[in-house]
Amino acid sequence: MKTFVLSVSAGLESVAKKEIEKQWWKIIETVDRLITFEGDFEVAAKVNLWSRVGNKVFLVLGEEENIEDFDDLYWLVNVIDFKKLIPEGSPIITKATSIRSELHHTPTIQSITKKSIIDNLGGWEIFENPDLPKFEILTLLLNNKARILLNLSWDALHKRWYRREAGEAPIKESLAAGLVLLSGWRFKEPFYDIFCGSWTIPIEAAMIAKNIAPWLKRKFSIVDLWFISEEKMADLKAEARLKKFDWDYRIFGTDIDEEMVIISQKNASDAGVWDDVSFEKRDFKKSIKPFVEWESLKWCLVTNPPYGLRLEADMEYIYKSIDDIFRKNPELWGWFISNYMEFDKISKKDFYKKRKLYNWAEKCYLWKKK
Ligand SMILES: C[S@@+](CC[C@H](N)C(=O)[O-])C[C@H]1O[C@@H](n2cnc3c(N)ncnc32)[C@H](O)[C@@H]1O
Repeated sequence: MKTFVLSVSAGLESVAKKEIEKQWWKIIETVDRLITFEGDFEVAAKVNLWSRVGNKVFLVLGEEENIEDFDDLYWLVNVIDFKKLIPEGSPIITKATSIRSELHHTPTIQSITKKSIIDNLGGWEIFENPDLPKFEILTLLLNNKARILLNLSWDALHKRWYRREAGEAPIKESLAAGLVLLSGWRFKEPFYDIFCGSWTIPIEAAMIAKNIAPWLKRKFSIVDLWFISEEKMADLKAEARLKKFDWDYRIFGTDIDEEMVIISQKNASDAGVWDDVSFEKRDFKKSIKPFVEWESLKWCLVTNPPYGLRLEADMEYIYKSIDDIFRKNPELWGWFISNYMEFDKISKKDFYKKRKLYNWAEKCYLWKKK
């Protein structure tokens, strides 16, 4: 049994935890942006294949509380049996993150970690063979607890294979999936994004509805790292393909700008949801029309309105209109994500509840009609 960590954006921990629990994998701990779980390498490969909200899967090589000087860090790394883990000559990359910890100078943390690994391996650095798979070791310090982690995802999991190009302010794919999962949409009702830009939210919604594994078409570093065979990975992917299902979904995206349509259609096609997402060029104020037609239906709105526009007047108008849409459509539920804090002033506070999230590094809030 091994211990793994799935890193996740702040605010999405509960969603990531549910994703892992749903597959009957045992969670050990959920802390700030980290879900620790137990299993074998097949479990880690499945998390890589299926996690919609995670950033990266790591194998825990070592961990210890109260690492407050570099000597302690050196010896924590030095006792790990790297010879067993890393094929001789493989290039080793060290990275570091420090949160609320005594050791905070990340370049020094990185170089101490690397020195300790190389000493442990008897100095094979000089023989690094660029043709061998690279190994990335992350030293993560959180409240003085150090974790030495081996990256089993390589590229971050939010970088979906389907995304060619995005619009000006695309939402991170893993966050888009997180919003859909948080909304509680159960697939039968119409799903709507009225500021859909490059369609990230509708595409992720359709992939969730059809149970398409977000990483079906990706080559994993876990394969390159030889912890799981190519054959086993192919079996896991074949198994995942069988779990896909189809239904007559009603997923709509509208945006005032149609510049992204061609690229987004290709993205939707590559994601396997070409037939499931409908797009129309439309000013969101006119979106009220289909809403009224669906008056008798319960429907779900998940959207990412513009923010940070230069004209405050525009912003106020946009957000007052969003408030109107929520109030005048009693059957509507869902969320919008933004960093426009003035919304609390222009809307009735007790009509919404709020949750803090991050889009890339930007702090945002998710407002939900109560
Ligand atoms: C923050 S971006 C949404 C990005 C999108 N979630 C994505 O991942 O690409 C806001 C979007 O609102 C659109 N927009 C601005 N004013 C609008 C209006 N009056 N009606 C509809 N869409 C509008 C912009 O064209 C832009 O695509």
